[in-house]
Amino acid sequence: MSSHGAPIPMISRKSAGLKGEAHVPGDKSISHRSLILGALSIGETRISGLLEGQDVLDTGRAMQAFGATVENLGNGNWRVEGVGVGGFAEPENVIDCGNSGTGVRLIMGAMATCPITATFSGDASLNGRPMARVTDPLALFGAQTVGREGGRLPMTIVGARSPVPVTYTVPVPSAQVKSAVLFAGLNTPGETVVIEQEATRDHTERMLAGFGAEITTEVTKEGRVITLQGQPELKPQTIVVPRDPSSAAFPVCAAIVTEGSDVLVPNIGLNPTRAGLFTTLQEMGAELTYENLREEGGEPVADLRARYSPNMKGISVPPDRAASMIDEYPVLSVVACFAEGVTEMRGVKELRVKESDRIDAMAVGLRAAGITVEEGEDWWTVEGLGFGEVPGGATVESRLDHRIAMSFLILGMASEAPMTVDDGGPIATSFPIFESLMGGLGAVVERV
Ligand code: S3P
Repeated sequence: MSSHGAPIPMISRKSAGLKGEAHVPGDKSISHRSLILGALSIGETRISGLLEGQDVLDTGRAMQAFGATVENLGNGNWRVEGVGVGGFAEPENVIDCGNSGTGVRLIMGAMATCPITATFSGDASLNGRPMARVTDPLALFGAQTVGREGGRLPMTIVGARSPVPVTYTVPVPSAQVKSAVLFAGLNTPGETVVIEQEATRDHTERMLAGFGAEITTEVTKEGRVITLQGQPELKPQTIVVPRDPSSAAFPVCAAIVTEGSDVLVPNIGLNPTRAGLFTTLQEMGAELTYENLREEGGEPVADLRARYSPNMKGISVPPDRAASMIDEYPVLSVVACFAEGVTEMRGVKELRVKESDRIDAMAVGLRAAGITVEEGEDWWTVEGLGFGEVPGGATVESRLDHRIAMSFLILGMASEAPMTVDDGGPIATSFPIFESLMGGLGAVVERV
């Protein structure tokens, strides 16, 4: 079932060389944070390049339910009139976060230290995902939570009336958990400290500083120690959302595996906490180059040029790179099918609790497409067959997971027989223009 309506089966077939420019949508992580931080500022935040995918639209609606004004001005331009730190109103109804783990976890953090009660729910995928990783630290601030067994949604959070500051070591590498704790720290007096052993995406830290919060990061033996001074007055900002490297991954990988391709993907942020896939592809021998490397808004940005890469080798992806490419393993496993030899992916237990169990979803689908996959709790390997040797020809489940759907559609562009996914509907959560963008490059991808 699609997250918002009837299933949309899709098929992709062996495509001739992909050519042209791929203008991918705005960054999902930064889009969520722009709306939430805009809502927590006093005054008008302007956002351009916002990702208008379902996940982000659900976060926008949630901010309205908490009292902010969120207005679509057209052409990717949005206006948020914030209520200030601690200014959230109590929502009238259940907050439906759809498919979005980032949306629900960040918003829970932002409301948990306000004297209000809110109930959160989502689609079948989101309602199956673990929330204790967020509600455990929120309880330390004084928030109370009642949810379904195993810490699942739907869930009600009673915000702390007199929140106390917290020092918290994040037990899993998760930017969502880190961000939830920092957002809870905003309406808490004193210093909130978050320690992360592995660096995860740092958009929250950068954006909080941009909105005028006092926040520092110190790299120590224990990890990154992030200290936030509570109860700042956040100042509204003008935000230009960069294009999403996690969406860029799809046209980049499609070009690499499709014979005769040469695709330019302009203006992609290469923040080191996000760019692990591109390093990995280069190590495999992919013809992927950075053009026009520059700095924008304090972040490295480049135009990515990806060409058909017939001479790739399987590699062992270093486990300490996992956080910087956690959303990209499904599409990496597709590229790995076309390399010579085995690609090993270790230290990736978190893949089991994404929109789907991504190791299982990919393993089942790749095996159906004729690929040998081995897996354990926190690792998997894919045996590459090389170009012209990947059978394909399977119908696979997308399991309410946009990245699973897109990954198998990329596979079908280069495998011998077409690939069908039972439901491409979830693609709209993060990459609503996927079908037209890939079609514009020459890929054969369509609704069945
Ligand atoms: C995100 C963090 C990651 C990532 C997700 C977006 C974020 O999740 O998978 O797509 O914007 O903070 P985890 O925090 O679960 O690793």
